[in-house]
Amino acid sequence: MTNNDQDNKLKKVLTRRNFLKSSAAAGLGMALVPPVIKGSPDNVLQKETSSSNQLNIAFIGAGAQGRVLIESCLRIPDIRIKAVCDIWEYSQRYASRYLKKYGHIVNIYEDYREMLTKEKDLDAAIIASPDWLHDKHANACMRAGLHVYCEKEMSNSLTKARSMVHTAKQTGKLLQIGHQRRSNPRYIHAIDRLIRDKHILGKVTKAYAQWNRAKSDMLGWPKKYTMEQAKLDKYGYSSMTAFRNWRWFKKYGGGPIVDLGSHQIDLYSWVFGSNPQTVMASGGIDYYKNRQWYDNVMAIYEYQTNEGTARALYQVQTTTKHGGFYETFMGDNGSLVISEVPEKGNWAMREAHAPEWDSLVKEGLLNTETQPIQKVDTKNIFLDVRVTAEAGRWPIPVELAKPAHQPHLENFFNAVISGVPLNCPAEIGYETAVAVLKVNEAVQSRRIYKFRPEQFKA
Ligand SMILES: NC(=O)c1ccc[n+]([C@@H]2O[C@H](COP(=O)([O-])OP(=O)(O)OC[C@H]3O[C@@H](n4cnc5c(N)ncnc54)[C@H](O)[C@@H]3O)[C@@H](O)[C@H]2O)c1
Repeated sequence: MTNNDQDNKLKKVLTRRNFLKSSAAAGLGMALVPPVIKGSPDNVLQKETSSSNQLNIAFIGAGAQGRVLIESCLRIPDIRIKAVCDIWEYSQRYASRYLKKYGHIVNIYEDYREMLTKEKDLDAAIIASPDWLHDKHANACMRAGLHVYCEKEMSNSLTKARSMVHTAKQTGKLLQIGHQRRSNPRYIHAIDRLIRDKHILGKVTKAYAQWNRAKSDMLGWPKKYTMEQAKLDKYGYSSMTAFRNWRWFKKYGGGPIVDLGSHQIDLYSWVFGSNPQTVMASGGIDYYKNRQWYDNVMAIYEYQTNEGTARALYQVQTTTKHGGFYETFMGDNGSLVISEVPEKGNWAMREAHAPEWDSLVKEGLLNTETQPIQKVDTKNIFLDVRVTAEAGRWPIPVELAKPAHQPHLENFFNAVISGVPLNCPAEIGYETAVAVLKVNEAVQSRRIYKFRPEQFKA
């Protein structure tokens, strides 16, 4: 490389770094836009690359979800994982070995503060630690000058979640919350294009969503990776069981309604264009003996939309997997079923009296209707199929040929690089946290919980 080449390379990097420093709060500096990240065309895991668009990132938390996000990051060109912080040797070893296979030689840390002091060249951090630590980790990263992608649930406490919104504002750093459906092109097509723009469901008055799982034991761990009690104490965990199963403990998480429900309850406000006015809920620790949070919850929300009142029912069950997980939106002209697993939901259904949808098929917005059940053979009852038969299904034609979290990460990296708006900025994550965390209060009080509009503002 000649001196000139070197100078040019340095200039490019400096320009990009200046841009990154000033690109906070999205939407700025479009003149300096480097190429937008789209993910590798063949969608394979990337070997380490080096380019002037490279983003240097660190992970805090490399457990189950951290690994899912690491794998998605490896599919995105120009993302260089430089450091991983995790207190558990098992997660540290797993992440460093896995990343080494793809040429990312990472520095491993136990303490996030040490990582932030020593790593001088980071642009962003991805936080996949347990919910109760998100504020501490995200706030420290933003104060250290990093943009942050933080997993849902934003926090297990609204006070802590609020501090994250404030830190993002004060530091001017980006804070994306990991409600990944908000970047999924199938969801964007279904909600923004079909339900909101094209209004195919007519007046949407109901929503229903569920996440049902079969019963399961508490998570264990390989015995040779048992942490000593002194170390658990140091990091605030009462036992290895609590450390591994933090979701079920009040100090660390919010139970299944927060863990699973937050993904889907987040969609209600997206579809209705408003936050809930009330929620009533019932739940309990009905099945398990050794958990602190409710193992099943049913909640009913009321929304005031531009079109009037809408109600949304939500249930999370951890002792039956009946029906799995999906979301349904129902209007007077039709309904739409969608799920992160397309086999569980990826279609609209039209009411017989509704305006025709064939033109939507011509525009490529829906696929042709699959035939409804026309005839029902039964031995001893008469069914009037005109009244009772299911409508035909109009499949949603958009596919996501990537892991579910990849588009949300891409949106975050593009916001960092070129200032595109975040799909789930801190303010939206906070609104969802309010709607979700208050369900546990409603269960406990056995009263209808009334939200005040100002509660949704951090
Ligand atoms: N978006 C999604 O679809 C999705 C799915 C699963 C989990 N999540 C979220 O991801 C986060 C992590 O969940 P998980 O399932 O990976 O949990 P996990 O228990 O499997 O992993 C958590 C990791 O954080 C580490 N950790 C704990 N305390 C730490 C500390 N003080 N400093 C650094 N590391 C620490 C643990 O050692 C572990 O490796 C949670 O917020 C969860 O809600 C999101």
